[in-house]
Amino acid sequence: MQIPAVFQPPFRLLMGPGPSDVAPSVLKAMSGPLLGHLDPVFVGMMEEIKIMLRQVFQTQNEMTFPVSGTGSAGMEFCFVNLIEPGDEVVIGVNGVFGTRMVDVAERCGARVVKVEAPWGQIIDPAKVAEALKQCRPKLVAIVHAETSTGALTPVEEISRLAHDAGAMLLLDTVTSLGGCPVKIDDWKVDAVYSGTQKCLSCPPGLSPVSFSARAMEVARQRKKKVQSWYLDVNMLASYWGQERVYHHTAPITMNYALHEALRLVLLEGLEARWRRHRDNHTALRNALEVMGLGLASQEGHQLWQLNAVTVPAGIDEAAVRRRLLTEFNIEIGAGLGPLKGKIWRVGLMGETSSRANVRKFLTAFCQILNEGGYKVATDAALAKL
Ligand SMILES: Cc1ncc(COP(=O)(O)O)c(C=O)c1O
Repeated sequence: MQIPAVFQPPFRLLMGPGPSDVAPSVLKAMSGPLLGHLDPVFVGMMEEIKIMLRQVFQTQNEMTFPVSGTGSAGMEFCFVNLIEPGDEVVIGVNGVFGTRMVDVAERCGARVVKVEAPWGQIIDPAKVAEALKQCRPKLVAIVHAETSTGALTPVEEISRLAHDAGAMLLLDTVTSLGGCPVKIDDWKVDAVYSGTQKCLSCPPGLSPVSFSARAMEVARQRKKKVQSWYLDVNMLASYWGQERVYHHTAPITMNYALHEALRLVLLEGLEARWRRHRDNHTALRNALEVMGLGLASQEGHQLWQLNAVTVPAGIDEAAVRRRLLTEFNIEIGAGLGPLKGKIWRVGLMGETSSRANVRKFLTAFCQILNEGGYKVATDAALAKL
């Protein structure tokens, strides 16, 4: 094979379910000189990442650090450390990622009791209460922001139910962290994982996680060793803790990027960042309403960072996405599972969430819909911004 030319990625506006756009300073951070992963300067930066992550997760948990791997690695990290064969686990399933949690938990040997909701709806606490009565649960796991459907499940009530039943609470915050309130200590979450590529606006590759003292105790008191060497929290604790015992070679430049992305989150301020996500979502939603388009997720529980836009009858969902990408350099996402062909997933995550980007998207989207025969009043829609 001939050696290919240097790869030159085009500039896209990333308005799908992630990754989101990244600030230039985050990309610049990644091109800094490499350090050894046990270099004291790198180790100092790791400490700052841990401190900033605690602020973003709103937790005092000592065991807070980024797992090397994407959000799914964070999911596995939580289950492999907390679950042993025969343990009973209640999992909320209302989309792709609740479904994935069930798969991961079952691979750990858990007996899973599912609490299902139609895709687009939130997990009903009353159903969680019922499920808790059917077993002796060690853990309740829910996805906070279901990226596949655009629904945000409230955490506090489910947390109370889980703890009253003697179980720990595990929360997926891959899409919520940095884009809407996530309050790990206030909500008494025992184990949480996230991803870097959504509302933190960092490339994919790390999974911030946090374990409460109780979760750490459970991991320490296991009857059997964690089946995953790579994700064993007891070993990772020695790497990310004070001892700095070699475990694996941390992805150096990804950690530079996360350091810069977290700095930007904290410089903006969590409250201001959440407000920005809320306001741009509201603007998009108001404009879509003028166009006769709605959101497929449950009213009152719609994500600010991921909008599941219902595809109107007679419109070819895939063709619209293709034109947005190839003619306008705008990426949006498709529906998955039962929502395939029925929704577009329009992400307004992190850096991507701006009024200018909503305008850019709507201008192109209206043109494509009009040319496809679905007539919309572009000016009236844009006037809502
Ligand atoms: C809610 C949620 N959980 C987990 C994941 C898995 O993360 P990753 O694709 O980074 O492995 C995703 C990815 O989109 C997600 O949206």
